[in-house]
Amino acid sequence: MAYRLAHPVSADDLIDEEDFDRDERLPYWAELWPSALALSRHLSTRDLNDVRAIELGCGVGLPTTVALARGATVLATDHYEAALDFTAHNARANLDREPDTALLDWRKPDIEGLGPFDLVLAADVLYEHKNAVALANLAPKLLAPDGEALFADPRRDGAPGFLAAMRANGFEDSVEEATVEQDTRKVEVLLHHLRR
Ligand SMILES: C[S@@+](CC[C@H](N)C(=O)[O-])C[C@H]1O[C@@H](n2cnc3c(N)ncnc32)[C@H](O)[C@@H]1O
Repeated sequence: MAYRLAHPVSADDLIDEEDFDRDERLPYWAELWPSALALSRHLSTRDLNDVRAIELGCGVGLPTTVALARGATVLATDHYEAALDFTAHNARANLDREPDTALLDWRKPDIEGLGPFDLVLAADVLYEHKNAVALANLAPKLLAPDGEALFADPRRDGAPGFLAAMRANGFEDSVEEATVEQDTRKVEVLLHHLRR
């Protein structure tokens, strides 16, 4: 199945100095990153009926849309409200259905009443060490005991620390490699399957 996605024309135009001063956030949500393509391709091969999934850092929401299409119920999350709006729009435009959405900041997560989830999805979220530490704390709390975290990552600096912390939390990692072509670039993405 082919998907059409809307996203802002220019992420740079959305840079807001007040946001940056508050917690150094930048509008990375406004682009579709190669890791989201790799994760979505993987999801498109799976039967996700009756699976409860959450996406962290959903951006414009391709993995959320594909997981919905494959039968999952999905909670799409990000720390930008606009990312949630684009994700809901993109799911609706492709599938005539929407995910649940919620603001969720990995560094001060309010997860009361959320989950447990069978699948935690995330694409290109390990680009800062502080985020990698926060995500290694958060993902295990969201997952059901036999759940799976799927992190797609193009070898960002935070990935080794994240994986070491997940192993210390009792998770095993199996890795698939994918090459994603986007525009004129070829990007190697590692898809980490993490299970207890
Ligand atoms: C590089 S973008 C990836 C977007 C999307 N997953 C993709 O691959 O196309 C990182 C995403 O994580 C979100 N993000 C960054 N820091 C966050 C935080 N502390 N809490 C929640 N979301 C965050 C950004 O808003 C953005 O949507």
